[in-house]
Amino acid sequence: MLTEKLTSTIDQPAVTLENFRLSDEDLPEFRDMKFEDINQLALDHPGASDEEYRERRDYIARLAKRFRETGVITDVDYSPREQRVWRYVAEELEELHQKHASPFYLKAKKDLGITTDRIPQLSEMNRRLNELAGFRLAPIEGLVETRSFLSWLSYRVMLSTQYIRHHSQPAYTPEPDIVHESIGHIPMFTNPNFADYSQFIGHGARIATDEQLEQLGRLYWFTVEFGMVEEGGGIKAYGAGLLSSFGELEHAFGDEVERRPFDLEQVINTPYDYSDMQSILYVVPSYSYLKDVTRKYIESF
Ligand SMILES: [Fe+2]
Repeated sequence: MLTEKLTSTIDQPAVTLENFRLSDEDLPEFRDMKFEDINQLALDHPGASDEEYRERRDYIARLAKRFRETGVITDVDYSPREQRVWRYVAEELEELHQKHASPFYLKAKKDLGITTDRIPQLSEMNRRLNELAGFRLAPIEGLVETRSFLSWLSYRVMLSTQYIRHHSQPAYTPEPDIVHESIGHIPMFTNPNFADYSQFIGHGARIATDEQLEQLGRLYWFTVEFGMVEEGGGIKAYGAGLLSSFGELEHAFGDEVERRPFDLEQVINTPYDYSDMQSILYVVPSYSYLKDVTRKYIESF
């Protein structure tokens, strides 16, 4: 059981942030993982009343479920329509990325073989990510509650959906999809400092009180999802919520957004609104700075 296994690992005092490298046998079980509403699409989902889309999404979600029993990632045979959605979004984003994305991210995307031509398979990105940073991907069928989701990062595992957003609104998705995961999140995990940072958050999630967990959620939000960094002589985006949405990315560099220097104490106490464009964003001086201040913070738990 996931919860029991995590609890029992938390009780072991020998795990510190320095030696926090676990073997495969330490991975908690996937089988009993709890999901939020995995069988229902919210009414505001653009595909909610499209029977064919729902069936397709559920089919791809079932492949993820199979992974939890077999440990093998099944490639998805994406349809021409799904590939068209990808090409449209990926091409639009590519242009903005050249202007606004972190140079590290741009290189990482290339290294992982993520192109505008076709939807990348989790299996191939997983192989490369593992070689480059000892990070892995695990397909999941939908949203997981915060503590579980973040806790998996402590095992250097990112949970990732495989289905793609509805074709009627390619610029928008109310839930994570393969565009958000592979264009937004996956490339950054090839950065050793960012990967370690993510792992620290995961470790924190396993030992956090509910209040600390809420703070970790904010830290995750303002960095992994909406983070900006001083890189290559300017301010660049590295957060997945920015990199996977042209609306958010353009908005982030506009006049209505206050871009503040990253201050951990302030970030963990700043509430966010996930249903609207961001009005405050935080800029880290470097990924190693982010890692170092977070290490100290988690060690104070
Ligand atoms: Fe995300």
